[in-house]
Amino acid sequence: MNFHVLTLFPDMIIQGLNTSITGRSIENGTISLNAVNIRDYTLNKHKKVDDYPYGGGAGMLMQAQPVYDAYRAVTQEIATRKQKECVHGTDVQHTTQMLQVKPRVIYLTPQGQVFKQSMAKELALEEDLIFLCGHYEGVDERVLEEIVTDYISIGDYVLTGGELPAMVLMDAISRMVPGVLGNQESGDSESHSNYLLEYPQYSRPEEWMGKKVPEVLLSGDHAKVDEWRLEQSLQRTKELRPDLYEKWASENEEYFIKKAKKEERKRRNELRKQKRLKDAVKIAQETKNTEK
Ligand code: ADE
Repeated sequence: MNFHVLTLFPDMIIQGLNTSITGRSIENGTISLNAVNIRDYTLNKHKKVDDYPYGGGAGMLMQAQPVYDAYRAVTQEIATRKQKECVHGTDVQHTTQMLQVKPRVIYLTPQGQVFKQSMAKELALEEDLIFLCGHYEGVDERVLEEIVTDYISIGDYVLTGGELPAMVLMDAISRMVPGVLGNQESGDSESHSNYLLEYPQYSRPEEWMGKKVPEVLLSGDHAKVDEWRLEQSLQRTKELRPDLYEKWASENEEYFIKKAKKEERKRRNELRKQKRLKDAVKIAQETKNTEK
């Protein structure tokens, strides 16, 4: 995965992602980060990248020219890299297709589609992603029309720029790139990827401040542990995110059918047990009476 970020604050992006898991992945080459300073592409002799909006209004707008030229520089770089990759390839048709691919350009804006896990998964399949971070009061509409493929928001609030949202997206997308997490399992089994919130987790010691780790987790019975975890996830999701619970429930009807059948079996077994007990008492009583 190659991330390219068009921004007025490249240091913010580099510092934000160069630590922890994303930092390690950049270092070992699983992902790459190319933070491009839009200001480097302005043709204005004073290095200006913004101007007043036509028609008036508050604040300044990022101008089309530096944004577009920064974008062109990045797409050119991608094309050159792909060309080099293709030199080693033999499939001419595939080569031509690859060179024609236009990378997706994500503009971070509160007006966009609200970001969610399924989008992170889908975007992680791309080879290159370009993020455009706006500042001031926004970006000239004409360049957005020209280059942007996806408009994405990270929530219903307004930030001062697109850098933090871009970092949020890159972090979430990175986790879905094979090899970024130590164990690929954990990226997929976690919250939201199947609509359910995480079950509670415990580590050593077995007792802390009088609170004990649930017995089932110490049992070594993996099937029981899995069952308990799923139940916990369901309980939490139902309570905290009923919207997600409903989605999960509608896609997992068989779980509730199986559960109902299991409970019915348990109830019948219990009834049988009680009947056997009753019969045994009755026989014992009768035996006692005949002995008298
Ligand atoms: N830019 C400013 N606020 C934003 C938000 N909430 N999401 C994405 N981009 C933004």
